Parts: sequence; C-alpha cells; structure tokens
Amino acid sequence: MVVANAPEHTRLRRGLGQMFGTATLQKLRHVAEETTERQLDMLESHLVKGPADWRSVVSEIVPVTAITNWLGIPGRDGARLREWTHAQSAAQELFPSGQELDVADAATARLELFFTHLIADRRALQQTDVLSQWLATWDSIESDQEQADATVRRLAATITAAGIETTVTVLNNVPWILGRHPDQAKWLADHPESIPGVVEELLRWDPPVHLVSRVAATDTELNGYSIQAGEMAYILVGAACRDPKWITDAATFDIQRGPGRGGHLAFGLGPHYCAGAALARLEAQVVLERLLARGQLPRVVSATWEPRVAFRQLSELLIAHE
Ligand code: HEM
Repeated sequence: MVVANAPEHTRLRRGLGQMFGTATLQKLRHVAEETTERQLDMLESHLVKGPADWRSVVSEIVPVTAITNWLGIPGRDGARLREWTHAQSAAQELFPSGQELDVADAATARLELFFTHLIADRRALQQTDVLSQWLATWDSIESDQEQADATVRRLAATITAAGIETTVTVLNNVPWILGRHPDQAKWLADHPESIPGVVEELLRWDPPVHLVSRVAATDTELNGYSIQAGEMAYILVGAACRDPKWITDAATFDIQRGPGRGGHLAFGLGPHYCAGAALARLEAQVVLERLLARGQLPRVVSATWEPRVAFRQLSELLIAHE
C-alpha cells in the first residue's frame, strides 16, 4: 500500500474500511490501559533492584499487544512480530547496506508466511474478526481467492510493521523528552487534561519517522529544484516539523504550544497519511495518563540510539526512580 499509486492505492485503502472507528478504539483503549498498568508494575519491580529498560518493558509491549489484540493474534506471537518488524524497518533507512537489506527481506518473508498461515486458519474458521472481514471484502473484489488471500496477507503484514516500530519510538519519547524538560513535566502533572496536546508536541519535536521517500513519475519542478523522472526524492519530515517558516519557536519543545502555533507532519500528508494515527495517539495518551497517575516521571539514566536516520529508534532507555 505504501508504494502503490492511485487507482490501486485508493482501492487498497478503501478495502480496509474504517480501521479505527469509535468502538474499536474504545476496545483498544482498554487493552492499552491494562497492558500499560501491567508493564508499569513490572517496571516497578525491576526498579527496586536498580535501573531498568523502559523500551523493552513498556514501549515495545504496548504497541504489539494492541495490534495482536486488534487482529486476533495470540499474544505469544508478539515477540516474533516485534523481532521481524524491527529487522524489516532497516530496509526503509536512507542508505541500507546489502546485509541489512538481506536481513530485512528475510524478516518480510517470515512476516508474510506468518500471515499466510493465519489467513488459512481464518478461512477455515469463518469468524467476524478484522482479518476475516478483510477477506470477505477482497473476495467480493477479486475473482480469484488466491489473489484475495495475497492482498490481505500483504496488507496485514504492512499494517503490523507500520504500527509497531513507529509507536515504540513515541512511547520512548515520553520519558526521554519530558525527562529533559522537568519544568514542563511538573506543569503537566497538574494539568493532565493537556495530555493530547503533549502527545502532538512529542510527535512534532522528534517524529518517529524522520524521512519518507518517493520516486518521481515524471520530470518535476519542486520549489525551484528539478527532479528527473525515476529519481528518488526524500521528504525530510523531521526537518519539516521544525521549520521556522511555519512553526513559531520551532526548535523549542513546548507542551503548551497548542495548534495555533504550527502543526506537524509526523503522520505524513495526502493520500498516504498514516492509517493508524488514531491508534498511535491513543497508545501514547494512555501511557502518559497512567504514568502521571503514578506520580513523578522516571529519571532517564542513559539512552542508546540505533545508527538510523529514517526510523529513529532507541535500542535501550535506562531509567531509575528519582
Ligand atoms: C507514532 C506512530 C506512527 C507514526 C509516527 C507513523 C507515521 C507514518 C507516516 C509518516 C506515514 C506516511 C508514509 C509515507 O507517506 O510514505 C504512515 C503511513 C502508514 N501508517 Fe503510520 N505511523 C504511526 C503509527 C501507525 C500505526 C499504529 C499503524 C497501524 C496500526 C500505522 C499504519 C500505517 C499505514 C498502513 C500507512 C500507509 C498508509 C498508505 O500508504 O496509505 N501507522 N505512518
């Protein structure tokens, strides 16, 4: 879907229906709340002994649990889905090495095989879950059942991958960024109603996806630059989110900024606008709510970054009690 153009892209996107309507989001809010509470308890038990890794205990678990629950995938499969989606995202880096591309290809193949089996099970069971609904939709569009299965398999694999790696980063950014702005974190503790706006500012100030790419279909002139047909263009989302032309005090992290002083492009723009933005926002809001309800934000001890540009990612985020 991400690499398709209209009319194929429109067809794929329409076939998904409204993925995150009100009822689905309500259900996923419960899942996110329960998961966050459980993981924060676990974090507490680690913190008694010393610094603990926020990423592996909280950020990595909430998104994958939401996705597996939504798609009706057994929770025990979460660990391998995380492993494959993590390996796969290297393919979207700025200059991936041949070895990284091999690892990413192998992960994509495993992810697709996983969904091949899952789809076969759903066909046999004839249920009303999300995957079965997509199968019913594509059965009515495609004349060939194998083709319908292949489309649903690719969509499910894409959405799973798109929904995990990115959301992990915004959840990491909760203690990582707020921890470096203690005055704002303190203000927020007294103003929990501001949480949705804080999530938007976290997304703007350090968006999980720093660049997306496109290939020019024809010779194009863009803002005074010429791009030849077939050339790749990189859209620097991270830079756009801090563009002083559009955003007042763009370099300043300000949780009281509000929509009047510039928005963000963290979820992209146009026909490919993020299909899971509502779920990502919900998960970040829940983690922030639950964390604040427990008192002070944890203190960051150290952060280790993966050597990436496009899909920024922390490999470890050690935190401790104040
Ligand atoms: C904070 C978390 C997230 C961020 C920052 C993010 C960011 C983005 C961006 C920038 C794009 C546009 C890519 C482009 O134009 O090439 C995109 C597309 C997409 N996202 Fe997200 N995303 C997030 C979470 C999610 C979640 C939770 C899901 C699904 C459960 C999801 C599913 C998708 C899909 C399917 C697309 C492709 C849409 C299309 O091509 O029409 N994303 N996302």
